[in-house]
Amino acid sequence: MSQNRNQISRVTRSKESAKTSYDRMSQWYDLIAGSSEWKFVEVGLGILEAANGEKILDIGHGTGKSILALAQSVGKSGYVYGLDISEGMHSIASDRVEKAGLSNNVDLRVGDAAKLPFEDGFFDAVFSSFTLELFDTPEIPLVLEECRRVLSSEGRLVIVSMAKKSRQSIAVKMYEWAHEVMPNYADCRPIYVTESLAEAGFQVIEQKEMQMWGLPVDAVFAKK
Ligand SMILES: C[S@@+](CC[C@H](N)C(=O)[O-])C[C@H]1O[C@@H](n2cnc3c(N)ncnc32)[C@H](O)[C@@H]1O
Repeated sequence: MSQNRNQISRVTRSKESAKTSYDRMSQWYDLIAGSSEWKFVEVGLGILEAANGEKILDIGHGTGKSILALAQSVGKSGYVYGLDISEGMHSIASDRVEKAGLSNNVDLRVGDAAKLPFEDGFFDAVFSSFTLELFDTPEIPLVLEECRRVLSSEGRLVIVSMAKKSRQSIAVKMYEWAHEVMPNYADCRPIYVTESLAEAGFQVIEQKEMQMWGLPVDAVFAKK
């Protein structure tokens, strides 16, 4: 295990508990987190540049705002797939897609991103925002390995995530403390985003460094 990964806080809650918590939160998620996080998601979508006719996977799509944006970008000749562990999120996102009249080009599934239910080389691009940092440290490389597996040879990956930097701010230290003592409320924690992608064999092309309430957030664009 690399030096970096040793320094990331571990995730102590179970997946079942994560699923239950997101099921409960799904009705309110856009109110609680949606507005503050959306601008970072938009930066990630911007660097992904989903194009007409592409097949794209959104991992941990939540209430489906990014699914809608992706479906609009790929158009009628493209297809967007989504995977989320929470049935509550699945239901909210499915309603949103249906209301937007995009159901013909979207396939949303309930499942765990540690094992993607898709064939090798199936996608032109994989997108994921504020989800990779929910996986326990040993699982992050497994999820990224799955992303590589389902991407085509020229495939692109964009991850938007809370990021850990070598120099730690007070905000990060406080957040990590909250994650340790209240793992169900502060459920994510900063991770080494760019380093994790490079270690998983991706070629990192671009990294946008941003801040949310003093916490670093990175949008990283990589190729297989
Ligand atoms: C913090 S929310 C982010 C939602 C959305 N991507 C956004 O940026 O607004 C994390 C999402 O990941 C989902 N999730 C958590 N663990 C997961 C797993 N193991 N596999 C798939 N999805 C998961 C949650 O249900 C939730 O919808």
